[in-house]
Amino acid sequence: MDILLIGSGGREHALAWKLTQSLHCDELYCAPGNAGIAELATCVPIDPMDNAAIVDFCREKNIDFVVVGPEQPLVNGLVDALEAAGVDAFGPTQAAAQLEGSKGFTKDLCAEYDIPTAAYQRFNNAPKAKMYVRQQGAPIVIKADGLAAGKGVIIAETVEDACDAIDACFEGTFGEAGAEVVVEEFLEGEEASLFAICDGQTAMLMGTAQDHKRVGDGDTGPNTGGMGAYSPAPVLTQELIDEVMTEIIVPTLAGMHARGHPFRGILYAGLMLTADGPSLIEYNTRFGDPECQVLMPRLKSDLVELMLAASTGSLLELPEAEWDERTGLTVVMASKGYPGSYEKNTVIEGVEDAEKAGALVFHAGTSRSEDGALLAIGGRVLNVTGFGDSVTEAQQAAYDGVAKIRWENGFTRSDIGWRAIAREKAVT
Ligand code: AMP
Ligand code: GLY
Repeated sequence: MDILLIGSGGREHALAWKLTQSLHCDELYCAPGNAGIAELATCVPIDPMDNAAIVDFCREKNIDFVVVGPEQPLVNGLVDALEAAGVDAFGPTQAAAQLEGSKGFTKDLCAEYDIPTAAYQRFNNAPKAKMYVRQQGAPIVIKADGLAAGKGVIIAETVEDACDAIDACFEGTFGEAGAEVVVEEFLEGEEASLFAICDGQTAMLMGTAQDHKRVGDGDTGPNTGGMGAYSPAPVLTQELIDEVMTEIIVPTLAGMHARGHPFRGILYAGLMLTADGPSLIEYNTRFGDPECQVLMPRLKSDLVELMLAASTGSLLELPEAEWDERTGLTVVMASKGYPGSYEKNTVIEGVEDAEKAGALVFHAGTSRSEDGALLAIGGRVLNVTGFGDSVTEAQQAAYDGVAKIRWENGFTRSDIGWRAIAREKAVT
């Protein structure tokens, strides 16, 4: 079948890499793609937010199946538009994508279905929100309700900081996303992510991972989209995975079904492993980036088969997905200055050398100059991925790959995997 993939990040390069390995994939197109994806697919310059243009393209090329990578097109109703035009797609409808698009929606669902999550209240004005904060005390967490590119969450150490954050939200710092504010209890523990592929009724585990959101070593500095990840996450033991599937994922699917918005696609649970057990921090309704870059290389099953089954409600007919036992670890190479401003069109060399050394290199913000040189055009630019029998080994393999890449304007964190590696050291 002919498949159209939507997106242009490292996540989409990893998806393209895996999709093209499927027996079911004849032709792969990507809108808009990047220089890495262009080696695997035909890239077409269509805006992922232009539903009509995507539908037109699908008609023109007789596309059989569309895979949506990022969250914005999902929240923008792309899957609804495709379904209305009779094109099969993988990903939730706009109503189901509210699990990511509205924190208040998700919190209310958790409350109704007894899904463990931080205690919370929703507010549409500052005075009431501040009154609640004063009652609860600090630390406390202030969240803009809508999509804010990962920036709409403020962990306030004091009541004053919390009140300032509430003012900032209602004054429009996060645009429309901050028109409603969720105030919630501060949870203590280690964070980990669990992915499930869902067909509206059934969920199948799609792996675990840990991300590194802060820009600096030791988890310091501002938040980013993610500076590196590894999979599986050893903190998520089989027992905890079973608990998350039964206490969090399954009731969520039941709740979405009951609301008339069955969830099809990837449910990405951001979890806090607290002393009282796993608690849901947030849902995303798509693969993580960079988590996808370590999940796809470990997935042994056919991705197209899984996605087709999820979109047609027949996941139960498939066996559990199979995984490579090894650990995958990816290091993000970003443009100096990221997550702030950075220079564009700087030249990168040596990607082939990293690949020869055994690393998988997934592109994010890359492009080719007219003479074929690889250029950095974004904040997060490359994902260098290594594998090993432990997180320590996978980290070594990934950084060996990074060392082969010559890019003056690039930087990485030097400690991706540090929590798991510290635990591995403590055991040996
Ligand atoms: P979110 O965008 O909801 O994932 O939040 C971004 C980050 O804020 C999370 O990855 C956590 O590190 C942190 N966070 C969010 N909610 C809480 C909470 N209730 N308690 C502690 N940390 C939180
Ligand atoms: N890496 C975090 C995310 O994809 O939201």
